[in-house]
Parts: sequence; structure tokens; C-alpha cells
Amino acid sequence: MELKLEAVTVEFHRGERQRHQALKEVTFSLQAGEAVALLGPTGAGKSTLLRVRAGLVKPTAGRGSGRQDGAVALAIQEPDRGFFAATVREEVQFGPDNLGLSNKESAARVDWALQLVRLPVAKWEVSPFQLSGGEQRRVALASVLAMRPRILLLDEPTIGLDRAGKEALIFILQRLIKEEGIGVLIASHDPDFLYAVTRRVLLLEQGVLRADGPWGRLGEDLASFAALGLKLPLLLAVLRELKAAGAPVNPEQDSAAEAKEELRKLLRHQREGVVYN
Ligand SMILES: Nc1ncnc2c1ncn2[C@@H]1O[C@H](COP(=O)(O)OP(=O)(O)OP(=O)(O)O)[C@@H](O)[C@H]1O
Ligand SMILES: [Mg+2]
Repeated sequence: MELKLEAVTVEFHRGERQRHQALKEVTFSLQAGEAVALLGPTGAGKSTLLRVRAGLVKPTAGRGSGRQDGAVALAIQEPDRGFFAATVREEVQFGPDNLGLSNKESAARVDWALQLVRLPVAKWEVSPFQLSGGEQRRVALASVLAMRPRILLLDEPTIGLDRAGKEALIFILQRLIKEEGIGVLIASHDPDFLYAVTRRVLLLEQGVLRADGPWGRLGEDLASFAALGLKLPLLLAVLRELKAAGAPVNPEQDSAAEAKEELRKLLRHQREGVVYN
């Protein structure tokens, strides 16, 4: 399955006469199983782009919306606003039930999803409102995972997560991408998290798609990054600095795993006494 946006423009009304273009002719596509990061300063249009794709916002012009039988699911920025069921279990089961699955199968999906996000079993039968912010985010994520979408849209999924929660989320997403072949599009202000999970990055600035490519080949777009006050993932920045200092490293690494391997290679070289200047 492929996700496509073609020249999508979204215009919001601000009062009687004022209009604001949150997205301006944005075009991109995401292949099945691809993991893509959505970066940009606050107000750039990231959430709007995800909402268009999830069918929650209608584009003013262009094409690219429509929810197809749970094929695309969105976890929103503030999950607590959306809870409605009496217990966590019922909350997560709502989606699968709506897909017309048997009760047994939806219950199995709930178990699978809640285990995947590592919510302690003791919390499965309480009200979602009795959970902490980080736990609520896990429930919101479990709710979309239980739909088993082919494409997962995540809006700021690391907000409210502690370090362990973030690492667990990275692990979950890596597994889903690798083992289940699902595609993900993630909006976040956390470059290190995004680099750990995705291989390609979209850069939005005031509704305009400024860059689209693999992490390792940001090249000229690095200037846009800096101008927007955005930070590169730490691993990428370190590789670039080492290269600038004359170290024999290739900073064009598309994922955190590959960047780490490049650093290990450098360490091995050093131990073997390779001299560089
Ligand atoms: N429902 C709406 N009505 C009017 N304007 C809106 C609406 N939703 C978003 N906007 C405007 O569209 C622009 C983009 O908003 P959006 O939420 O997509 O930004 P974002 O990149 O997700 O920002 P953040 O990083 O803060 O989450 C903002 O200027 C915002 O004020
Ligand atoms: Mg947002």
C-alpha cells in the first residue's frame, strides 16, 4: 500500500476575512513499509498534514485524504482529550470491534497491543483517566496498533514519555516496521528519536515542504535545518564534526544504527593504529 499526497493545500479561516494556509501544495508519497520523519518548527503544518492523510481535515485543493477501512491510523498529539470508554481494555477494543472482528479476535488484538506498549496488566481494567500522561500515551498508541493499520501516523508520540518509555517505543516501532512491514509517518520535535526509527525525513516550513530525502543525504538542506532552529540527530552531527576534523568517516548514514556502526568502525581503525589527520 502506498500513501500519496498531491499538491495538497489546506486553508483555515481565522475570523471573518483572514485566511491562513497551513499547507501549500504539498506533494510526497510513502511506500509500503517505509518509515518517514516529519520535522519542522511549531506551526509548520505537521499535525495538519497527518490529519489530512487520516481523513480528518479536507484539503482546500489537491488530493490525498480518505481513511480506508483502518488501513491508516492516527495517534493524536493530546490523547487524553479523546478517551471515551470506561476501561483501558474497552478503549483499545473499540477500534477492532468497529472493524467487524469477532469478540475473540478483537480481545486477542487488545492483549497483543497492550503488551506491545508494555502497559502493566494491573492497569488494563481501570479508567484511562486514572493513568499518568505517559501511560495514557501508551493506551492511545495501543488503540491505533490494535487496528493493525498498514500505515501508522504518529503525532508527537514521545511527549510525556520518560527515557525508558521512549526506548520502549523505539523498540516497538522498529519491530513493527521490520517484522510487520508497516509504514510509519511520525511528526516530532525529537530528532534523535526520529533518526532511531526512520530513514527518510520531510522538512516542513510554514506549510511548504522544504526537503524530502534520506537522513544521510540532507546536504544542502542542512542550511534550512539550521535556519529553522532545528537540530540534527546527535549521531549525525557527531559524524559530520569528525569528518570535518579529518576522520575517515562517511557522515551520510540514513539511520541511527548505521551511524553507530560507522562510529564503531572508526574505533576499530583507531585500535588498529590507522593514522589520520
Ligand atoms: N483547526 C484550525 N483552525 C485554524 N487554524 C488552524 C487549525 N489547525 C491548525 N491551524 C493553524 O495551522 C498552522 C499549522 O498548524 P499545525 O498544528 O499543523 O502545526 P504543527 O507543525 O503540528 O505545530 P506543532 O509543532 O506546534 O505541533 C498553525 O498556524 C495553526 O495555527
Ligand atoms: Mg502538531
